[in-house]
Amino acid sequence: MFGVDEMRPSAAMRFPFIFTLFALLTLLAVRSTLAQDARIFRLDGGNSTYAFGVNERGELQTLYWGGRLGPNDRFPPAQSYPEWASFDSSYSTTPQEYVGWGAGLFTEPALKVSFADGNRDLVLHFVRITVNSQQSQEVLLKDVFREIYVTLRYSVDPETGILARSAIIENHEKLPVVIEQAAAAQWTLPPARYTLSYLTGRWAGEWTLNQEPIHAGARVIESRRGSTGHQANPWFAISRDDSQERAGPAIAGEEHGEVWFGALAWSGSWRITVEQDQLDSVRVTGGFNPFDFGYELEPGERLETPVFYGGYSDHGLGGASRLLHRFELAHVLPQAPEPKPRPVIYNSWEATEFRVDEPGQVALAEKAASIGVDRFVMDDGWFGQRKTDNAGLGDWYVNPEKFPNGLKPLIEKVHALGMDFGLWVEPEMVNPDSDLYRKHPDWVLSFPGRPRTEQRNQLVLNLARSDVRDYIEGVLDRLLTENDIAFLKWDYNRNWSEPGWDQVPVAEQRRVYVEFVHNLYSILADLRKKHPALEIESCSGGGGRVDLGILHYTDEVWPSDNTDPFDRLSMQDGFSYAYTPQIMMAWVTDSPHWLNGRSTSLTYRMLSSMQGSLGIGANLNHWTSEDFATAKRLIAAYHSVQPTIVRGDLYRLLSPLDGSEVSATETVSRDKGQAVVFAFTHSTQEGRGFPLLQLQGLDPAAEYKIGWIEGKGIPGTAASASGAWWMRHGIQLDLHGDFQGAAFRLDRQH
Ligand code: GLA
Repeated sequence: MFGVDEMRPSAAMRFPFIFTLFALLTLLAVRSTLAQDARIFRLDGGNSTYAFGVNERGELQTLYWGGRLGPNDRFPPAQSYPEWASFDSSYSTTPQEYVGWGAGLFTEPALKVSFADGNRDLVLHFVRITVNSQQSQEVLLKDVFREIYVTLRYSVDPETGILARSAIIENHEKLPVVIEQAAAAQWTLPPARYTLSYLTGRWAGEWTLNQEPIHAGARVIESRRGSTGHQANPWFAISRDDSQERAGPAIAGEEHGEVWFGALAWSGSWRITVEQDQLDSVRVTGGFNPFDFGYELEPGERLETPVFYGGYSDHGLGGASRLLHRFELAHVLPQAPEPKPRPVIYNSWEATEFRVDEPGQVALAEKAASIGVDRFVMDDGWFGQRKTDNAGLGDWYVNPEKFPNGLKPLIEKVHALGMDFGLWVEPEMVNPDSDLYRKHPDWVLSFPGRPRTEQRNQLVLNLARSDVRDYIEGVLDRLLTENDIAFLKWDYNRNWSEPGWDQVPVAEQRRVYVEFVHNLYSILADLRKKHPALEIESCSGGGGRVDLGILHYTDEVWPSDNTDPFDRLSMQDGFSYAYTPQIMMAWVTDSPHWLNGRSTSLTYRMLSSMQGSLGIGANLNHWTSEDFATAKRLIAAYHSVQPTIVRGDLYRLLSPLDGSEVSATETVSRDKGQAVVFAFTHSTQEGRGFPLLQLQGLDPAAEYKIGWIEGKGIPGTAASASGAWWMRHGIQLDLHGDFQGAAFRLDRQH
């Protein structure tokens, strides 16, 4: 990284005239150097190559992103595109790695800045590159005249080829500048026919996979909500149409064809713009959401963007998600590179809602322990004057009526039963009916003299304030120090409104979009440091805060409040395009389901949840002895194959989308020693048999023995066969009816 002093090229540059002369000479020097050497920079990793170069104008131009090239392949020098017409400026059509808004740019800029004197023109040129290693480079760009510097960071993962890109913007002008728009990175693909995949949703309906052709113009996916949001998730994939094996929605290029994908590591307002320009190039720009943005940088200050990860696969969307899953496990999660499989949890929420107390929780804990649960989690309702959702948030003391002796007796009981203990918190929020709000009404996001819009009877604490940040960390630190708590379910049950911060000067108030999230990350990081055994779940009314930013600090996520086992099949399918099953908590809850009124068997519910990290959220007080026996058997089976399910390579064999009658997934362990398959019917129609399952990813020459977890094959199904047999001949399940499930494992024989 460039230090501030290192970045100041010379004292002479502080004088405008000499500086201008110097800049011109530098430009000429760059031009002549370019004539001699091509100034091409390249990053190789996994099966991909990424390359950019400095063109004759001094811009950092994108040259290539795709399959791995030969080590001796040489790129021709970077050359800006010719002016297509007087309306289609070369500055707009030439793909740049990180383009400032200026010089006639009509496409999405990476950076837009307002200077104190009214100038808003920004043209970034290459200054130098620092090659830290074969995998990591930093490129310094600078405005052609002004003292605005941008350091672009690149690092590539040698195994998956996934690139991490981000930018640091520094102001060395004498006056402040306002950053109106700052992306983490821009990615460019050459003209071709492409399909864009992205994930959208709403509360209880997260993880909808959308697929549409990319046409001229821009598709914007974003959150303006202050946090990641349910409505869209910061992930995209672009498949090349002419290499897809099947056309049509939801099934485009699952195992074949070229796919470029990316995910933004940011838990605040974000935006990804996918744009096809007038010459048909496709550009993806992602970073802070420019809506209501405006980050004032004082002289000498810097703003660091989130990281935008990007990768390439020539094995379709399936290959893309397998790369992302590997990368998340090895590089993103707090326990990387070898995160432990998640404990099987019991959570009290759907059983008791706010009606928690010591005897009730102990009764549930005893039952949970009897079926093999590893962790008991008490949800909302244990603190302050919390009886419904209209009071208590902010008052993180144990409610003395519900727990007269504090949490210790319950925690000790849970430990004695062989489980560890977890607790629900929602630290960034406050109910107006709370001691905290009565004491500090100025601590919430709001504009002075304006209404404070409540959602779920709560307001958002302004975590950008350092006193609020310190208060939250202090309260949680005390809770964790005084009690043996292994796990926090960290909830966040509304989005922002009136995002004002009137305690700082007007020019600084919009920093709230950045500082809030940085303070959240720093609290999470500090708590983990102070309590190294602590594990955390990111929850936001279900899947409202799932992104690669929060996943640096949290071990798992709650994908949705919707636990209907059939709805979950398509949600889990959508989720798996971007995120590993390791972090995908999936609870078994009661039937008929509270949301859809659908009745399903416990076996079906268990199998649906066993495709991720399993939890039980049912009211165990209502279970029969048969239910306990079923759950105990399936939890034991789950434990024995869990590492394969959560760490293996996932193949989405049959899609549950678009009203499919059936669905199936397969996960294969990295060493190909084991595969686990889940299969489901929605409804058998016209007596059709379950489709033949041709497995994937096995070692064709090895022998695999089948072990049934639930269900069976048609009569005569082999008990053992080669990988080639299971993949080519396939297996025919004896599976029919409505909401039925089957699961089996294949173990390699030595
Ligand atoms: C959110 C969570 C639920 C539960 C409730 C408690 O909705 O997603 O799982 O914890 O809050 O109020």
